[in-house]
Parts: sequence; C-alpha cells; structure tokens
Amino acid sequence: MRIAVACDHAAYRHKLAVIAHLSALGHTVEDFGTASDASVDYPDYGIPAARSIASGRNEKGILICGTGIGMAITANKITGIRCALVYSVETAGITAAHNNPQMIAMGARFFDVPTVIAMVDAWLTTPFEARHQRRLDKITACEGASSC
Ligand code: RB5
Repeated sequence: MRIAVACDHAAYRHKLAVIAHLSALGHTVEDFGTASDASVDYPDYGIPAARSIASGRNEKGILICGTGIGMAITANKITGIRCALVYSVETAGITAAHNNPQMIAMGARFFDVPTVIAMVDAWLTTPFEARHQRRLDKITACEGASSC
C-alpha cells in the first residue's frame, strides 16, 4: 500500500518509528516531513499529505502532531478526506470498521511509540463494515453543499 506520513516537531521521533515499521511491513511510504524536531506549523505538512490522498497518489495517510487534533482538523479541510483522531488501539480499529478513514491522526504527547504503532496496525488491518456506508455517503453529500 502507498502510505503518506507527516508530522510536526512534536512527533518527529514517533514518525521515524512509524515509517520504519511500515517499511518493514512492505508498504511504500511517502514522507511529507517535517525532518527534525525544530518548531514548524503542522498544516504545512498535513495539507500536502492529505492532498496526496485526495489526488490518488497515496492510498492512506498517517498524521502525528502533539495532540493529533491540529493535524486532524487540517486534513479534514481537504475535500474527500476523512481523517480520524484515534486515541486508543480500540478506537483505531473501530474507526476503520465504521468510518473507513483514509487518514488517521495521533498525538505524540499522549502516546508512546509502541502504542502509536499498535494504533496504526489496528487501523490498517481492520476491514470496513459495509453497513456503515450510508453514513459516509451523507458526509460526502454535505461536502461543498450550501445546505445539508
Ligand atoms: C505544536 O506546539 C502543537 O500545537 C501541535 O503539535 C499540535 O498539538 C496541534 O494540534
């Protein structure tokens, strides 16, 4: 699978570990930065990563910042993107089954590297349950609509 990964300074070390993990699993990873723990603005990294999924260049994406919240807000501004803020291994699996998000966001200040990797694995390996598609269609229908 082609997977986009991006972070800000708060999550640089977490991102390196996630990239190593995904690569070891055989995925093709596109790293959208940042490239150090020097302070940066998370939208500068989250937006290109999300756009790469909206365009079809990548299939899924993983965003990590201090809380995960800024990255999730950012990615969800891109038309067509569903980015889930995950906060446990269980919610990472449930969101895959219920919301089928192309992207997840996580908070490096709240989860250690093994937990972040466990959340990534739960999301990647849990299949979507088609009975939830109707709800996703309602979200899609609201995008860009003047009323919904
Ligand atoms: C950066 O200090 C911090 O705001 C960022 O990592 C993230 O928590 C934003 O949601």
